[in-house]
Amino acid sequence: MKKSTAKKTAKSVSERAPKVRLAILGTGGMANHHASEYSAIKGCEMVAAADVDQGRVDAFGEKFGIPNTFTSVDDLLAWGEFEAVVIVTPDAFHAPLSIKCLRAGKHVFCEKPLALNYGEAKKMVTAARKAGTINMVNFSYRNWPVIHAAAKLVRDGRLGDLRHVEASYSQTWLSSKAWGDWRTSPNWLWRLSTQHGSQGTLGDIGVHILDFATYPAGPISELFCNLKTFPKAPRNRVGPFKLDANDSAVMNVVFANGALGTIHTTRWSSGHQNRLYLKISGTKGAVEIDSERSTDTYRICAGRDLDILNWREVRAPRVRSNYQRFIRAVQAGEPVQPDFARGAEIQKLLDACFDSDKARKPVRVR
Ligand SMILES: NC(=O)c1ccc[n+]([C@@H]2O[C@H](COP(=O)([O-])OP(=O)(O)OC[C@H]3O[C@@H](n4cnc5c(N)ncnc54)[C@H](O)[C@@H]3O)[C@@H](O)[C@H]2O)c1
Repeated sequence: MKKSTAKKTAKSVSERAPKVRLAILGTGGMANHHASEYSAIKGCEMVAAADVDQGRVDAFGEKFGIPNTFTSVDDLLAWGEFEAVVIVTPDAFHAPLSIKCLRAGKHVFCEKPLALNYGEAKKMVTAARKAGTINMVNFSYRNWPVIHAAAKLVRDGRLGDLRHVEASYSQTWLSSKAWGDWRTSPNWLWRLSTQHGSQGTLGDIGVHILDFATYPAGPISELFCNLKTFPKAPRNRVGPFKLDANDSAVMNVVFANGALGTIHTTRWSSGHQNRLYLKISGTKGAVEIDSERSTDTYRICAGRDLDILNWREVRAPRVRSNYQRFIRAVQAGEPVQPDFARGAEIQKLLDACFDSDKARKPVRVR
């Protein structure tokens, strides 16, 4: 299914749609999750993997039964017998590899954050438009039914005019070994080092909470952000890794619809392995999501329940995962969200956070 088939209509998606042949670029920790997800999708076949580390890509190929392995993306593209790629390398390689693959006419599913800055992200959007192929960024919490239900409640006016948004993403791996010891694991250490292409906690999980909050509550027009990097090791270094990337980000935000909000994220949230929290309040009610309670059900207090402060727990309708929607989009030749343009919007917010922190003042975003 080359570029031309991206023009097919949704009617052509069927049981008989040709399998999408997929290549995975980067075969570290997160690639294992991708491979498990994609191997469970009937319309998809993992045909190739590439990584700069020969041992890792070979082991990955063996583990998931992937017949073709490469240590160079150029060699993979020269071979070329696939329609779509999944980019799961460290952040610094997302832009150059995506653009290379788009120019080769491939559909691209790229890990977050989309790029290292808004300028790079815009180039990716332009390359995707020129290629005319499917492009998607992996804001993985779109896999949770609750976030789509919250967006629908806002769209349908069930909460009235929005007034207040509270959003946070809390991890604890700097103060706990629940996910292993960061001091001895390169896959955690590169996330602490700007020289290794990391934008810190803000770029790693701040992107998720920014998407999680603004998908239902709408775009941000102004923000004021505080970033903080705490001392973690002697001379703030472990081997080749200089530990200079931010650990915590706290934002005051103004939404384009006039609502105010706070959005914060940290790896120092002791006791919380991976918690996303969102509460959106409006003139007619509020919705609350707490991932430690449930990712299938949300709580709502709205309408007549408001005066008696009665919260109801509601099950959200099931949704397809990002992985399933990407493959379906490739088969149908129809665009899918969140696409590169959405990834670039979030990247713009990250740039605004860095600018605001540096200037110590609020920054307008639109
Ligand atoms: N969506 C999510 O929730 C989520 C979760 C975890 C990680 N991620 C993202 O996935 C990406 C990878 O994270 P990870 O935890 O798997 O990292 P990792 O360090 O475990 O793996 C990265 C792999 O990429 C390889 N690599 C480096 N440069 C390469 C290149 N130029 N070409 C091909 N391979 C290359 C490395 O050798 C390594 O095997 C990051 O961008 C991260 O932000 C997303």
